[in-house]
Amino acid sequence: MYNELKVPPRILLGPGPTIANPRVLKAMTTPMLGYMDVDFVEIMDDVVTLLREVYGTKNKLTFPISGTGTSGMEAALANIVEPGDRVIVGVNGYFGGRIADIAERCGAVVTPVKAEWGDIIQPEQIIDVCDKVSPKLVAIVHGETSTGILQPLDDIIDITRKYGAFFLADCVTTLGGQPVDIDERGIDIAYSCTQKCLAGPPGLSPVSFSERVVDAIRKRKTRIQSFYLDVELLEEYWTGDTRKYHHTVSMSLIYAIREALRIIQEEGQSARYIRHEQNAAALIAGAEAIGLKPVAAARYRLPMLTTLRIPEGIDDATMRNRLLQDYNIEIGGGLGVFAGKAWRIGLMGDAANEQNVLLVLNAIEKLLIEFGVTVEPGTAVSAAAAVYHNSE
Ligand SMILES: Cc1ncc(COP(=O)(O)O)c(C=O)c1O
Repeated sequence: MYNELKVPPRILLGPGPTIANPRVLKAMTTPMLGYMDVDFVEIMDDVVTLLREVYGTKNKLTFPISGTGTSGMEAALANIVEPGDRVIVGVNGYFGGRIADIAERCGAVVTPVKAEWGDIIQPEQIIDVCDKVSPKLVAIVHGETSTGILQPLDDIIDITRKYGAFFLADCVTTLGGQPVDIDERGIDIAYSCTQKCLAGPPGLSPVSFSERVVDAIRKRKTRIQSFYLDVELLEEYWTGDTRKYHHTVSMSLIYAIREALRIIQEEGQSARYIRHEQNAAALIAGAEAIGLKPVAAARYRLPMLTTLRIPEGIDDATMRNRLLQDYNIEIGGGLGVFAGKAWRIGLMGDAANEQNVLLVLNAIEKLLIEFGVTVEPGTAVSAAAAVYHNSE
């Protein structure tokens, strides 16, 4: 006999998943409906409308794909890329690398535009490559979760337009925590996830395709290899007056995202973005006060994910294990070139709050002192608290 499922009350302050809002978890216990039930279709319509709001778009083709953020990435690339198409991908971290990999699997001739991990992609780099390859698509990660960089998009989008290409933004980490503004910026394809700044469970990837892209997809010369991710088929299920079965979506996850988006609407988008920024500022003030250095330059920091260099002589795994065992706090380790060299602290969705900032700073400071670092007890929390006082 197995015991009833019970998990420890973790405080998830890593790169995602984050803590799911209790209202979202409650919504997931709503009974199942048939996938074509008129009442369920109404719920789907709500999700589409609310998603358009948070994405800042009127794009008709805006809906959640079944699967995590990577399914949105696959859907985006599988639908727009045909074999032989030229695709430029900004690679300044782990997830840019994944986009390049998937684009290649779709048959694209990929030109990576590289920058050091922790730096941004410069618009001039994109111009240089556009001159050489005449791309169909330029793909950039808006919030690089592996490095803590918030990539400026506007200049690169202008360049992309000038060269007549489509622009794709990976908004897995940014949606719900920073403005994406699809229509205002002129993003053609965006995808995200539910387990970060939307404060839901993993399992859906909200995507949005501009009319321009939909038009190009309709004119493809070759059939999309994936049935499951074919947006023309999905469109027939998600939009329009007569719906057509495509696959059995997870009702529980659709209930979850609807509630998550309702919560964002209640809080207000700009209040939510400011909340993410203020909590990140307090976290960084506290961390710097005890000698922890952020990886990203101040101008390009991702508010929902802060990367901090691990001080000399401190063992990454020991610190993260002790945080988990002693304080129930999960923070992320470094990926790729930052493995063992940086910590990734996420303040995403509901988790971006003063209580968590003070908790994690206090825990890290106590452990650093135990590991032999000279710090006056209370330094980190006081520095963070000062940020909150000053913003009142
Ligand atoms: C920027 C970015 N893109 C893509 C992904 C992949 O998303 P998922 O793990 O939900 O499939 C992640 C995951 O953390 C991410 O941070």
